[in-house]
Amino acid sequence: MNILVVLAVVAAFGLLRFGRVSLLVWAGAWWVGIYVLLRFGFTAPIPASVVSLYMGIVSIAILAYVSSSQERRDEISRPLVRFMTDKRYTAFLAATVVAIPALAAANVYVQMNVPLQPPLFSRTVHPASPSEITVHDKKIDLDAGENPFRHLEASSPTEFRTHVENGRKVYYRNCVFCHGDNLAGNGMFVHGLDPIPTNFTDKGTLPMLRETFLFWRIAKGGPGLPEEGGPWDTAMPAWEKFLKEEEMWEAILFLYDSTGQRPRAKEEAAK
Ligand code: HEC
Repeated sequence: MNILVVLAVVAAFGLLRFGRVSLLVWAGAWWVGIYVLLRFGFTAPIPASVVSLYMGIVSIAILAYVSSSQERRDEISRPLVRFMTDKRYTAFLAATVVAIPALAAANVYVQMNVPLQPPLFSRTVHPASPSEITVHDKKIDLDAGENPFRHLEASSPTEFRTHVENGRKVYYRNCVFCHGDNLAGNGMFVHGLDPIPTNFTDKGTLPMLRETFLFWRIAKGGPGLPEEGGPWDTAMPAWEKFLKEEEMWEAILFLYDSTGQRPRAKEEAAK
């Protein structure tokens, strides 16, 4: 309990008691006092829906009390009738008549103007990869490793092309549905995905990553992301379950070849 608030409410009730105020003021005071207690009297905040529920009950109870005898009914209605009929109060009455609908309208306006914001959650799109992973019972060194086919690019271009073409097949059989037929991350499934699949044509993605990083992401997929990569609901599958190791490396060759980009060099990544 918030002692200060409780004391303030009790003190206000004490003052009213001394002041011998009318029943109408008492009814209002009870209503306001209980509202203040519910709203501010507890250290743990009470949900607004619970407060309105309680205030509904309080309103009915106060109404039942003040209307429970002829005397009380008269006592309550007398000042109200005077307020409404006495010439002195005409200006006040007019102001009240305008104020009540205006307040209701203001309330509606305020409620409708609550800006809608999606809940914020941040994520590391490229969390650090582990230094080593095991794929099909084989340890792959992600720090020192290389794409086993990359060296063919210089030494044996025709052989290199066959691997790129194999990668193309892997891509169009497996990846196109999400990553899109032009690799722009706009495959037919994207409308149902959040986060959306990576756009490989984006200049800030493939050239910033090492091939071993991509291998890790392809082999282990969304389930393989570390804690700091989350919260993720990524649909990226763990392809080690469906593809051979070579096929994954070939798919990576294809990603770079098709987008005309170069992988990030090992030395560069070490900086
Ligand atoms: C079911 C949809 C789906 C399929 C199929 C899919 N991916 Fe993905 N992929 C995603 C999503 C979504 C992301 C982005 C979230 C993430 O990084 O996990 C992603 C991310 C990636 C990344 C990480 C890129 C980065 O910037 O870190 C790579 C690499 C990748 N996909 C390659 C592939 C390859 C290769 C295939 C086919 C063998 C494939 N994906 C098939 C949904 C898919």
